[in-house]
Amino acid sequence: MPDIDLPAKLAVSPTGTLAGGNGVYTKHLADMSGVYRDTAAYEAELTERGGDALVYRVESQDYGPHSGALTIGTSTLLPGRVGDEFAVTRGHLHAISDRAELYYCLSGRGVMLLETLDGRSEAFELTPGEAVNVPGEWIHRSVNVGDEPFVTLFTYATDAGQDYQLIADAHGMRSLVVADGAGGWKLRENPDHTGYRRA
Ligand SMILES: [Fe+2]
Repeated sequence: MPDIDLPAKLAVSPTGTLAGGNGVYTKHLADMSGVYRDTAAYEAELTERGGDALVYRVESQDYGPHSGALTIGTSTLLPGRVGDEFAVTRGHLHAISDRAELYYCLSGRGVMLLETLDGRSEAFELTPGEAVNVPGEWIHRSVNVGDEPFVTLFTYATDAGQDYQLIADAHGMRSLVVADGAGGWKLRENPDHTGYRRA
C-alpha cells in the first residue's frame, strides 16, 4: 500500500488568499525580462516602478509530485500594461504535456490565452463564476484585461510540471493581448514569434 495523503480543507478568498495552502511564490517586474515585446516600455516600467514591483502571486496546496495527486491554488495577477500589452503570467506548457488544468475566475476580468504547438489558438475572457477547462497539449497564460486583480482558482495534476522555456525560446506566444483603444482588448500577432520547438 502506498502512503495515503490526508484530505485538506482550504478556504479560498476572492482576493486570492488560500488558507490551508503550503506554497507561495511571487513574480516581480524584474522577473519578467523578455516576456513583453515592447522592450522600451518594459525598461521604462522598471525605472518607474522598480524591479521589486509585484506582477503576480500564486498560493498553492499539494502533497508532492506523486502520480495522481492534485495541486490546487490561486493566481492573483495585478492589472497593468507594458506598452499596449496587458499584464501577463509567463505562461507554460505542462512538462508532461498531456496534463489538463482547470481555471475558475474568482474576481477581476482576464483572458486565458491558449495555443498549441501545431498552430491552434483560443482566447477566453473570464469573469467571476466562469471557468475554462484547459486540455493537455495547450500552452496557457493568464492575462489581466481589467482594472482590478485577476484572481483564479486552478487545479492540475501535480506531476504535470511546467515548461516555461518553450515560450521564451519562441520569443513569446504567437498572439499578444493588447488594448483595443476603446477600453477593451484584442489579439495581435506577435511579430517576434519564431514558432514553438519542444526540446
Ligand atoms: Fe498550467
